[in-house]
Amino acid sequence: MCAADGVFPEIAVLTGAGISAESGLATFRGAGGLWNGRRVEDVATIEGFKKDPDTVWRFYNSLKKETVAALPNDAHKALSRLQKAYPAKVSIFTQNVDLLHEKAGTQNVYHIHGRIDRALCMNCMRSNPSESEITFDAPCPFCGKPALKPDIVFFGEVPYYLDLVQQKLSSCGVFIAVGTSGVVCPAASFVFTAKENGAKTFEFNTEPSGNPAFDTAVTGKAGETLPPFVDKILSAVERQENLF
Ligand code: APR
Repeated sequence: MCAADGVFPEIAVLTGAGISAESGLATFRGAGGLWNGRRVEDVATIEGFKKDPDTVWRFYNSLKKETVAALPNDAHKALSRLQKAYPAKVSIFTQNVDLLHEKAGTQNVYHIHGRIDRALCMNCMRSNPSESEITFDAPCPFCGKPALKPDIVFFGEVPYYLDLVQQKLSSCGVFIAVGTSGVVCPAASFVFTAKENGAKTFEFNTEPSGNPAFDTAVTGKAGETLPPFVDKILSAVERQENLF
């Protein structure tokens, strides 16, 4: 029985593009962001994909190359340490399609907006690994039809793992949002659900959102602010002190 089981509540973490910024990956909004110079409608909607699948595949193939080369930063590593310390208590939900949480050693990361290393067949609806570049006429490995799209949740599509998210938001005692602008639903509503269920809520961001649902806003780069926060939690666990 891990020391934390009796002392600490469940912790639910939601990460966004900001946690990967210090690994060199562009965020979606803000100067130089992924959406800068591109219309979301063109590369992140099913209509945009059907209108010009080659452009969308080119966008995600180049994003895949960047994410494969990127390395996890201290923020990813801090969350991996937290989860390793008490695995049954820490759930990591990410809006990111990169695999930097996994590269940092975090297990069971729930990619609610999909993953860059998978493709989904729009004919048989099965998802399959797609580490290499994909073109629209590539056949689905299951049904053979040339109907593959990136297994990334486009605007207007239903994110993955929402039932599990709701379960964790109702049982967690601590909710932490790291590097997300909180403008895209349903992820933007997670903090309200956690708060309604009595969780202590924390936001780690270079520019605090000002969302009153957050009890604490920790301003700064996640790679600098998250590690000491996790160290504080872990040392409180050792002293069997209740930190929250
Ligand atoms: N540390 C902490 N926060 C940071 C850092 C950093 N080093 N760098 C940037 N940020 C913050 C920004 O202030 C911003 O609030 O990260 C946030 C990134 O916001 P977005 O670019 O909007 O990314 P995200 O919130 O993940 O977008 C959500 O929108 O476009 C869709 O599906 C896409 O998953 C994405 C979703």
